[in-house]
Amino acid sequence: MESTKPNEAEETSDSRIYQKYRETIATLPKAIGGNASQEIYQYQGFWYYPLYLERIMLIQEHFKAQPSHIMVVSMPKCGTTWLKALTFAIATRSQFDFSLSHPLTASSPHECLPFLEAVAATACLNEANNPIALFATHMPFTSLPESFLSSACKMVYICRNPKDALTSMWHFECRLTPKGKKCFTLEEAFEHFSDGVYPYGPYWDHVLGYWKASLEWPEKLLFLKYEDLKTDTMRHVKKLAQFIGHPFSLQEEKDGLVEEVIQLCSFENLSNLDVNKFGKRHVTEKLEIENAVFFRKGVVGDWKNNLTAEMSEQLDKIIEQKLRGSGLSFSS
Ligand code: A3P
Repeated sequence: MESTKPNEAEETSDSRIYQKYRETIATLPKAIGGNASQEIYQYQGFWYYPLYLERIMLIQEHFKAQPSHIMVVSMPKCGTTWLKALTFAIATRSQFDFSLSHPLTASSPHECLPFLEAVAATACLNEANNPIALFATHMPFTSLPESFLSSACKMVYICRNPKDALTSMWHFECRLTPKGKKCFTLEEAFEHFSDGVYPYGPYWDHVLGYWKASLEWPEKLLFLKYEDLKTDTMRHVKKLAQFIGHPFSLQEEKDGLVEEVIQLCSFENLSNLDVNKFGKRHVTEKLEIENAVFFRKGVVGDWKNNLTAEMSEQLDKIIEQKLRGSGLSFSS
């Protein structure tokens, strides 16, 4: 997304706004979570790194969802990168063909479809110069600005078997841990995850918030599972296209466009592109990370190679208890 830079007056006003948020954050309950070297803070029932929490407060106060907006929403490590790529490829297919010059071959899916949490300045938040208006967020449902519900914007949520989400998150955090600092052991990460003290967690509350909303407002929110997308990619990609208002025509289907989207966004294709193997990206002005950290194995069930039988059993109990009566379940 292109955005104009805030001017000096806007910057001064933003730094005052951020100062106010930092003062609020300093009063919140805190814990060590996600990554052994960093504190996370509890706000409106969920845990956050302070850097993202300030952005979330900014979004809550200053972002207005528009009817044209399409939001990719997720808990971290549940398939955000994949869903971003698919949504971008589907929604922009009249502008870009699936050749070697497609934006997804030269830019990370996170650049093609930006996180709202990465848009730092108020002047850039409500800018209408992104005609496609595709955004992503990890914000929990209950913390979304009211305009997400009152406007006709669409949301697509992706979640994943919590055991795979935990496994993926643990590997991710270890890869991001600066040299010389200690990452959590898997046992520690497991404890924090189970207690819900985990970035954007508790996991169950995040997922249940969107699950219930998808039942109440099915025309507004499409609820997807990573496992279903893996098992029947074709059906879910067509469903996604239909939901976001860019359905594939019969002719497009005959011409193999659905297959082309799937191939372009596949783990094998994206993870082997130079931009995703060697590229880096500023997540915020203070944090730069390698694009490669968003691609690890891309499979279902890798938790079996990581979690112990006891951990799995304990999580089964928690999942059963937390999701009971909701109609939501995860295959193992
Ligand atoms: P693993 O760590 O289990 O391999 P997120 O994008 O929400 O951060 O999630 C990252 C997870 O999605 C990682 O899982 C990553 O490998 C996987 N992933 C990334 N791109 C993918 C794609 N195109 N298809 C399937 N899985 C993908």
